[in-house]
Amino acid sequence: MSQVVSRTLSDRFADRTNVFGSSIWTDILTHKEKHTDPVYFGDGAPAPEMLPIRRLAQSNAHVWEDATGALAYGDQQGWLPLREWIATNLQNRSIDATAANIMTTAGSTQALDFAARVFLQPGDAVIAENPTFLGAIDIFHTYEAEVIGVECDADGMLMDKLEETILNTPNAKVIYTIPTFQNPAGTNMPLERRQRLVELAREHNLAIFEDDPYGDLQYSGEVIPPLRALDDQVIYFGTFSKVIAPGLRVGYVVAPTEVAVKLLATREVADVNNDRITMRTVYHTIQDDFLTGHIEECRDFYRSRRDAMLAALEREMPEGVSWSRPDGGFFVWITLPDHITSEQIFDVAAEYGVVAFPGKWFDPQKQHAHSIRLSFSTVPEDRIALGIERLGAAIRSVM
Ligand SMILES: Cc1ncc(COP(=O)(O)O)c(C=O)c1O
Repeated sequence: MSQVVSRTLSDRFADRTNVFGSSIWTDILTHKEKHTDPVYFGDGAPAPEMLPIRRLAQSNAHVWEDATGALAYGDQQGWLPLREWIATNLQNRSIDATAANIMTTAGSTQALDFAARVFLQPGDAVIAENPTFLGAIDIFHTYEAEVIGVECDADGMLMDKLEETILNTPNAKVIYTIPTFQNPAGTNMPLERRQRLVELAREHNLAIFEDDPYGDLQYSGEVIPPLRALDDQVIYFGTFSKVIAPGLRVGYVVAPTEVAVKLLATREVADVNNDRITMRTVYHTIQDDFLTGHIEECRDFYRSRRDAMLAALEREMPEGVSWSRPDGGFFVWITLPDHITSEQIFDVAAEYGVVAFPGKWFDPQKQHAHSIRLSFSTVPEDRIALGIERLGAAIRSVM
């Protein structure tokens, strides 16, 4: 008869699981529960009004006309017509790419994960903006790499600080950057800095991971080419999550051949191929210039929400608080006076009925931060006004 032996499976977990702290989603949920009608500025996602649902449904129905083609294993690198479309479309962003150098992935998150697997081993370092995308911090930590943050100003990463960090970080292999409408800071790096960044990476033989989910969502200002347009060695990450829908999980990576080969090998081990139904659905959706028109509508729609948020901040924020004025993307970054911490305002704002991400979550060193990230994309204008009014009151209460 078999005996029941009690086991402690957590003793058997890999060290890398230690990087997963408490879930931010649990924290968000408990903060939302502090008010009966909270205004939520946390979503880095498209507005429900901007999801092309009917078009997606029609496109999906079309896929089933060739069901046997779509239901087998295959398309390991991504469906060729979709990769060809991406290569052509990237010319709008001044990027010269071919289908052979593109691999589609389950969102750009998976592409970042694959690239991290290819480049990073325990003890390596990734240099990134501080603040930066918290999903990327978690991915790099999963591969037991450290993430070193570089100071930024209203134009993104400071190049003298980047150079200093490179010189002080002999174990650095990668610069991870979101130069265009950064998450969370909303900054758009000027061309001269982009040129300098590419130059520094070349000089020190560092890979550049350029994450560009928001490049198409520009509402004002000058259009600045991505890093990948300046240097074809840059590894470039794109996604349909922000301009179509994140639930589809279709993103892609553009990489030089030696990297593309390794990425494909990684994919074959990880999940064999992308969801072939969804790749075709996305492909049929974007045909006949649909995406161009849809992006135009998105720009008008989100521009109004951005303007509503900036106007409300102007009205409601007390002296001593500053904020970014983004030309694109989904985020406004609020900087509080030094004596107010991001976690303090996270708690107090929730009591007042407004929930947003504390800045500390975006700091690779998780140090004291005095900032919060507000996303305007999913919040209607009247709710933006209400939420910012509440935030102003919350900040004044702790000042
Ligand atoms: C900078 C950045 N990179 C990557 C992603 C992930 O996008 P995807 O849905 O394509 O995985 C996001 C989404 O929030 C993001 O802001």
